[in-house]
Amino acid sequence: MDKLVIDGGHPLRGTVPVSGAKNAALPILIATLVAPGEHALSNVPDLVDVSSMLSLLGRIGCPSLAGDVVRIDTSRVAYSEAPYDVVRKMRASVLALGPLLARCGHAKVSLPGGCAIGVRPIDQHLKGLEALGCRFELDGGYVIGRVDKLRGAPVVFDVVTVTGTENILMAAVLAEGTTVIENAAAEPEVADLARFLGGMGARIEGAGTSRIVVEGVSTLSPAAAPYAILSDRIEAGTYLVAGAITGGDVRCEGADAQSLAPVLSALEAAGCTITQGPGWVGCARSGPVRPIDVETRPHPGFPTDMQAQLMALLALGTGTSTVRETIFENRFMHVAELLRLGARVDIDGNLASIHGVPSLKGATVMATDLRASASLVLAGLAATGTTEVLRLYHLDRGYEKLEAKLGGIGARVRRVGEGRPD
Ligand code: EPZ
Repeated sequence: MDKLVIDGGHPLRGTVPVSGAKNAALPILIATLVAPGEHALSNVPDLVDVSSMLSLLGRIGCPSLAGDVVRIDTSRVAYSEAPYDVVRKMRASVLALGPLLARCGHAKVSLPGGCAIGVRPIDQHLKGLEALGCRFELDGGYVIGRVDKLRGAPVVFDVVTVTGTENILMAAVLAEGTTVIENAAAEPEVADLARFLGGMGARIEGAGTSRIVVEGVSTLSPAAAPYAILSDRIEAGTYLVAGAITGGDVRCEGADAQSLAPVLSALEAAGCTITQGPGWVGCARSGPVRPIDVETRPHPGFPTDMQAQLMALLALGTGTSTVRETIFENRFMHVAELLRLGARVDIDGNLASIHGVPSLKGATVMATDLRASASLVLAGLAATGTTEVLRLYHLDRGYEKLEAKLGGIGARVRRVGEGRPD
């Protein structure tokens, strides 16, 4: 299994090109099912999860061609099923539910099992699709859905759910009548999916807010021009923290300041200097890291997917910071590993108190999930000496060309092992 070996303690400087967003690409790839025909997508990140979604589409009967422009042919759907061996690798496969029900009136999707960061049930997905007329049964670890005719209806989520909102969107666009989604997720990736669906003839109002109105249509067809996936605000945020944590100056080319706003204000509060221009955002730090208090919230609150990375920075603070994780019940797995690098963090339920230390020291650490592993890489970049981050496959799921991008801003990192598993 691959590991990343980091020679830390060097300020990072330079420009990083930001890739397309994993969490926009995944729903948009599967959403191609609602419009039979040939689709073209650009700015699709080259990630393990994207390969998994393309292989799921292949299993369903929709061949694709990866490249600068990813081409997918959804003219024919042979199987309306997302099997266990695909879903267990990538829980986002649950996003096949809405499009398959809309396209085929039937869907068999393996229930995504447990996850390192939380239980992550899909009750809200099912509740929303039931409101549109679907019926579900659970059998042999699979959720099996059927619908004669999707009908628009009010859907009120009990909790804000990103993929839940996306599943309902992808079904409601082909439902008869109007669907109103209340307490919807307002993440930029949800809005990007809605833009993609709109380009195929869907009628959606309010995406990017907590109230979305969808007027169903009878058919959708692939857009003529390739659709460009939104840039990845979490990848950009991670590299901005790389500049901050090493006392350097990093610019992210292709980053969107507006979608990064909650992250930028936290970095500024922590003593960083944020600069921005057309199509880029920069972060530099020359003074001390100031202690701050942060709480993760659905967008436009502070993103849970940046919590671990920010904690790595606050570990070097001149005082005590607090981070409250309100989205996932088990998203402090990186803490025990940060302690191995010399950080001082106390956990009390969903509240972490980070007592800043003057410096971190390299050690061998274990990645547990995608964002936790990103925080360990960041801490390793700041730490003196050598850090080895084991189980790199977690990072390959969500960070494209990590070593090359880090190397491009002066990081001394190298991958050791057999190369990226595909
Ligand atoms: C999406 O996951 C992202 N994944 C996650 O990013 C991200 O952390 C999360 O949204 C929150 O922003 C993708 O977009 C592919 P949720 P999702 O449904 O949709 C509870 C990363 O690092 N809930 O918004 O699965 C749930 O348990 C990944 O890139 C229910 O109770 O998250 C959680 O506590 C990790 N019932 C909360 O809602 C449901 O039916 C938010 O989860 C659905 C969710």
